Amino acid sequence: MTDSAATVAGYKAAAAKAAIDLVKPGMRLGLGTGTTAAPFVEEVGARVREGLEVICVPTSEATRAHAAALNIPLTTLDDTPHLDLTVDGADEIDDQLRLIKGGGGALLREKIVATASERMVVIADDSKLSKTLGSHPLPIEVVRFGLNPTMLLIQALAAEAGCEGEIRLRRGEGDRPFVTDQGNLIVDCAFPRIAEPEVLAFALARVPGVVEHGLFLGLCDMAIVAGANGVKIYR
Ligand code: 5RP
Repeated sequence: MTDSAATVAGYKAAAAKAAIDLVKPGMRLGLGTGTTAAPFVEEVGARVREGLEVICVPTSEATRAHAAALNIPLTTLDDTPHLDLTVDGADEIDDQLRLIKGGGGALLREKIVATASERMVVIADDSKLSKTLGSHPLPIEVVRFGLNPTMLLIQALAAEAGCEGEIRLRRGEGDRPFVTDQGNLIVDCAFPRIAEPEVLAFALARVPGVVEHGLFLGLCDMAIVAGANGVKIYR
């Protein structure tokens, strides 16, 4: 039986609550994007109201708006290029803490912010754990210029794995494409099983129209995962 939406929301909140213990006064924080990162932003907002001094870089315009509404002090990577800690969600986490991210379309800023951080901690409900990456489609951010040749190169890689890539559409808005905060498009590729994420990451990085992909390799230091049996830490 799969957990109800309310149960999963409770797991996400529990993971976010556990992650707030990692936040110390004076820290420079990266704030992730999505329905798991959102309760963490709420936790940071609550601590800021109590007097905690932190400065934060959001990973999306949605998170920027959320954090600003909570009066969380914000900065940019141009002004604050080194961060102490980023806390973000993930679409999939394997046992080597390799991730698929970008379900919410923020993968480019998320990867830039995570890379600028001393530590990246992922918070998740336990449905995100996976033995082999590939249960979630891999989001690939592409520039609009030369979209057709870029799609052909991505499709060729996808075809080798027996899948196709599809340009992400805006939910509920007919066939209008989803546009990222950087003005790019997302191609979702449902690779059935990503046995060698590093090999796929290398191949995708060689496609000139690919700005970034949702494989986060060697970036995550810790995962805080909540489920029916409580909160577990993976390092
Ligand atoms: C956004 C992301 C999110 O962290 C990821 O999609 C998980 O989202 P959620 O916590 O809503 O399940 O990578 O680009």
